[in-house]
Amino acid sequence: EDDVPHVFVVFGASGDLAKKKIYPTLWWLYKDGLLPKQTYFVGYARSDLSVQAVRDKSTQYMKLQDDEKDKFEEFWKYNYYVKGSYTERTDFEHLNQEINTLPKGDLAHRLFYLALPPTVFKDVSSNIRLCCMGHEGWSRIIVEKPFGHDSESSDDLSQHLSKLFREDQIYRIDHYLGKEMVQNLMVLRFGNKMFSPLWNRDHVQCVVITFKEPFGTMGRGGYFDESGIIRDVMQNHLMQILSLVAMEKPASTSAEDIRDEKVKVLKCMPPLDLDNVVVGQYTGDPEGQGDAKNGYLDDPTVPKGSVTPTFATAVVFVKTERWDGVPFIMKCGKALNERKAEVRIQFKDVPGDIFGGQCKRNELVIRVQPQEAVYCKMMVKAPGMNINPEESELDLSYGARYKGVKMPDAYERLILDVFCGAQLHFVRSDELREAWRIFTPLLHKLEKEKIKPAPYKYGSRGPQESDDLARRFGFIFSG
Ligand code: BG6
Repeated sequence: EDDVPHVFVVFGASGDLAKKKIYPTLWWLYKDGLLPKQTYFVGYARSDLSVQAVRDKSTQYMKLQDDEKDKFEEFWKYNYYVKGSYTERTDFEHLNQEINTLPKGDLAHRLFYLALPPTVFKDVSSNIRLCCMGHEGWSRIIVEKPFGHDSESSDDLSQHLSKLFREDQIYRIDHYLGKEMVQNLMVLRFGNKMFSPLWNRDHVQCVVITFKEPFGTMGRGGYFDESGIIRDVMQNHLMQILSLVAMEKPASTSAEDIRDEKVKVLKCMPPLDLDNVVVGQYTGDPEGQGDAKNGYLDDPTVPKGSVTPTFATAVVFVKTERWDGVPFIMKCGKALNERKAEVRIQFKDVPGDIFGGQCKRNELVIRVQPQEAVYCKMMVKAPGMNINPEESELDLSYGARYKGVKMPDAYERLILDVFCGAQLHFVRSDELREAWRIFTPLLHKLEKEKIKPAPYKYGSRGPQESDDLARRFGFIFSG
C-alpha cells in the first residue's frame, strides 16, 4: 500500500477557493511532510491555464518563508494542469488518460475536489464516475456547500451523488468542523467530570452560539444574495456547533457513533418558527471608512431591493430529556462590530443568593476565533477588606497556555482527513437532510412573503430586535 501514489484533482483550479484555500493547504501539508510519498496534484478547469498560472495566482496566499524556496520548487514539480469543460465526457476521458500517464497512475488512489459552482456539480460528478474511476486504487470525492438551497434540491443532489458514490467516498466539507475549538467541544464535554452534571436543562438557562464578521460582502454580494446568511453560516456552521454542544455521549469516538448522536439532536428539533427569528440587512455608515460607507444594497452585484438577510438570530429548541425548554440562540451576521465566533453557555441564577442579588450568572465560553480560549465567568470575593462578590474569569487562553504551538488551519486538518479516510469531521447525508428539514419552511416563508429584514448600521452590533429576542428567551447580557 505504501508505494501506491495518490492523485489529488482540483476541479475549478482557476477559481477563488482553489487559489485562496486549496492550493495553499496542499502546499502546507506537503512542506510539513504530512502527505503520502508520491502525491501528484492535478488542476482542472475550463480556462487555458498552466501550472505556472495556477502558481502565480495562489502564491500570495501561501505565506512562503525564505528558507522554503527549494521545497516550494519541488512541490510545483508534482503539479499538473489539464484544461477541459465540465460537461463533455471526452474531456474527462482525457483527464483520466493524463492521470494514467503519471507514474503508476492507473494504480493510484484518487481524490477529487469539486471547488465548483453548484450549476456544474451534477455533470462533473457523473463524469468523474464514468471516466475517472476505472483504476485500481480507491476514489474519494470532496464537495463544498451549497448542498442545494432547500430540502428538495438538497435531496435531489444527495440522490444523484448516492447513485455514483458510496457514502464512505463522499466528503462534505463544513470547514467549521476543522477548527480547533469546535473539535475541542468533544474533549471538553466528555473528558471532564466537572461539566457533565451541569450540562442540561436543570442548570443551563440558555446557550448562545455566535458568528460575527466585521466586513460586508465586498463586491461579492451577487453570489451571497443567492444564499443569504442563514444558508451561508447558520444552517451549517452554527448547527454543527449546536449538535456538538447538545449531543449525548457517543458510544465511542468513531465517526459513525459520533455522527449518529449528532443526527439524533437534529431529529429532536422542530423547524424554525418565524416568531423566534430576527433577520437583518446592513446599511452603509455615512461616517464609516471605506467599505463601511456601503450598505448591502449599494453593492452593484446585489439585485435591487433584495430582502436577503445578512444577519439573523434564531431561537431553537432541542426536545430531548436533557434540553427540553432550553433556548439555543444562534446569531450570525456580516458587517458587524467585530470578528468573533463563540459558544456561550449561560447557567441559571444562584438559588437563594445571600449576597443581596449581586451574583451574576456563571457562563462558560468557548471562543472559536479569534484567539481561541475556554473561559468561565464566575463570582469571587473582591480582594481586600470586604466580602463583596465580584465577577471575574477563570481563563484558559490558548495563546498564553500553548505559546508557540502551531494551530493548523481548518482546511489542513480536513484535507489530511480525506487522505486518511477519516470521515468524523465531515457532514453525513442524514445530517444534511435533517438540517434542511429544520430550515426549509422558514427560508421558504421569508422568500415567499418577502419579509423585510431589519436594517442595522455597518459596524454595529446588529439590529436592536436581535437583543430583544435574546432577552425574551431569558439571556442576560453582561455589562
Ligand atoms: C464561509 C462563508 O462558509 O465561512 C463565508 O461562506 C464566511 O461567508 C466564512 O465568511 C467564515 O469562515 P471563517 O473561517 O473565516 O470564520
